[in-house]
Amino acid sequence: THVAVLMGGWSSEREVSLVSGAACAKALQEAGYSVTTIDIQRDMGSLLTRLYPKPDVIFNALHGPYGEDGCIQGFLNIINIPYTHSGVMASALAMDKPMSKRLFEQVGIPCAKHDIVKRDDVLAGNVMDGPYVIKPTNEGSSVGVKVVMDGDEPPFSHDDWPYGDEVMIEQFVPGRELTVTVMGSRGALAVTEICTDHKFYDYDAKYVEGGSWHEVPANIPADIEEKAKRLAEKAHETLGCRGVSRADFRYDDEKGEIYILEINTQPGMTPTSLVPEQAAAVGISFPKLVAWMIEEARC
Ligand code: DAL
Ligand code: MG
Repeated sequence: THVAVLMGGWSSEREVSLVSGAACAKALQEAGYSVTTIDIQRDMGSLLTRLYPKPDVIFNALHGPYGEDGCIQGFLNIINIPYTHSGVMASALAMDKPMSKRLFEQVGIPCAKHDIVKRDDVLAGNVMDGPYVIKPTNEGSSVGVKVVMDGDEPPFSHDDWPYGDEVMIEQFVPGRELTVTVMGSRGALAVTEICTDHKFYDYDAKYVEGGSWHEVPANIPADIEEKAKRLAEKAHETLGCRGVSRADFRYDDEKGEIYILEINTQPGMTPTSLVPEQAAAVGISFPKLVAWMIEEARC
């Protein structure tokens, strides 16, 4: 089976994707596949050239806009090559945080109180009482995320908010950060607690050595572990995800409540990422994990 790994892209998560792609290509080779990697550039014409002759399967290692939001998935549907992870609809819904939260609330998956406001409202301080978190509606890896405590100044000016006119404001949930990988019909793998000494789990905490550390399985009460797993599976199913996804939660350990932050349809697959780590914790090696993803590929 010949697999082409799509990686890079031109979203703000390009660098993360290059690392995910290289790690997955290596694991696929170890699993016995013949592999080529394709660094996607804005010039899609070169992608078409690279896909001729067609690989049997595309391993999608892209993150962020165009690679994770249904765009590339639609393109692959049209040219009829099976690909890993979610299809068009689930990708588009998961990438749009307001839209996915609307669906989560409809099926009873708890979300922190949130609001979509205009950039001008944030600048004018015309939003909910703090503390709250400001997020672009469709970025990953905490790009653009800012935590605002009571009495803080507006967290950005017009010029340093390149993420569009609509901004998501979410009540800051005190407590701990949890994440759960779902492997399709095999269900939730484990619950990891992500610990950091940064103000929150920001981009550097995610990708700079020592910025964060993981406890897997998380040291949390059994009922919370169970709840996080079932909610992650429900979120996966509600959006119609395929293959692997990873749901992120806040756990307010004073109140004993958990809230979903989002579901990632193209979770990080770097050697130190959460998904391969959870798989290893339940006895699934990185090569076995990517081989399973190839078996689940569809278009
Ligand atoms: N957006 C990054 C890659 C993640 O969710 O792991
Ligand atoms: Mg994300």
